[in-house]
Amino acid sequence: MNPDQIRPILEHYQQTHLLAFYDTLSEQEQQALCEQIAALDFSIPVYAASNENTARGTFAPLQGMSIEKAAQFAREHEILGLKALRRGEVGAVLLAGGQGTRLGFDIPKGCVNIGETREVTLFSLHFANLKRHAAMAGRSIPIFIMTSKFNYDATLQFLQEHHYFDYPEEDVILFRQEMAVCTDFDGKALLAAPGYVAESPNGNGGWFLSMEKAGLLSELERRGIRWLNVFAVDNALQQIADPKFIGAVIKSGCESGAKVVAKAAPDERVGVLCLEDGRPSIVEYYEMTDEIRTAREENGLLSYRYGVILNYLFSVSQLMTFRDAQLPIHRAAKTIPCLDAAGNPVSPAQPNGYKYETLVLDMVHFQQSCLPYEIVREAEFAPIKNRNGIDSLDSARILLKNAGFIL
Ligand code: UTP
Repeated sequence: MNPDQIRPILEHYQQTHLLAFYDTLSEQEQQALCEQIAALDFSIPVYAASNENTARGTFAPLQGMSIEKAAQFAREHEILGLKALRRGEVGAVLLAGGQGTRLGFDIPKGCVNIGETREVTLFSLHFANLKRHAAMAGRSIPIFIMTSKFNYDATLQFLQEHHYFDYPEEDVILFRQEMAVCTDFDGKALLAAPGYVAESPNGNGGWFLSMEKAGLLSELERRGIRWLNVFAVDNALQQIADPKFIGAVIKSGCESGAKVVAKAAPDERVGVLCLEDGRPSIVEYYEMTDEIRTAREENGLLSYRYGVILNYLFSVSQLMTFRDAQLPIHRAAKTIPCLDAAGNPVSPAQPNGYKYETLVLDMVHFQQSCLPYEIVREAEFAPIKNRNGIDSLDSARILLKNAGFIL
């Protein structure tokens, strides 16, 4: 890869300033910069700018499986789910490529010690949970772990040092997600260093495409995996490959399912699973009108009450049908350390540009059907986004202890 090969791309997207310091770089650095530029997709900022204000459709409530209904049919669902697990039809996908900037550690979120008297990490909790369900099913459940260029090595090293928490190593498959360029507010790519373009992981919506790029679709086929349970790394009470959830989705005949919690109040800031133009969809808090936020059923329950917790079950054959479809690209204003035009490093105190992400929640709208499966919040939802306060290490510790964990 040389500048003559990448210059046409940069010219096309008006990003030639990325070569401003090219002549000052060593040969090795020049090569690395060209390779990085060749790997980045510069159409992303253009597309994101054009799709940002796309109007949403017409929303309607989506009926789901309440906690009471789930309890009533629990045994039947569990038997069905265990059958699928025993046949090896279910894989788990752990989304662990995020940067965890709000939490602010320089190690992967899954490796942060939550314990007080012993080491307890999100990874140790997830593997313990997965092992429990594997034991119930009588066979190991493969787990695919999405990492990014930034945390692949650290994640792998941590898992190796912990002997994969005694889980069969051949069933723990790490892969890397793609990166997206970071830009200023005008869509101009930023340089993080003279020979390095500012970039960030491209969001959690690219997981299936990244699996494909990593050559893992043939692995799914080889293993006979028909369902993928996709979940976030940062829920300390995450239930992985939960037989009851799997069984409930299979029995419902839906193409997909989502674990949901009942919103505590109309103003809770959580994405809600509902219908949009007749298809399942997730509407973000800030996209809801007051009318939608506060609408209630006759029994007093919120009509739009199913808050998503990033735990989905997708059918592999259905995922294959829309893998070429473009998910919306969301741009978020962030503080991005970069170089100014003269090449001086800038550490902005205020947001100075955009990071670009696709989101797994947007995949739900590509499904014909999705079963909202309500869970008991205290039993299954302890998100860790911040150090203190709401959804934090502190709040997760309390929830874990209340659920009987020794920290
Ligand atoms: P969040 O949206 O909370 O992002 O991720 P984050 O990166 O963990 O944290 P902040 O926003 O920087 O503070 C939700 C889930 O999606 C994964 C995360 O690892 C987490 O499990 N994720 C997020 C990815 O796998 N890749 C990404 O590019 C972004």
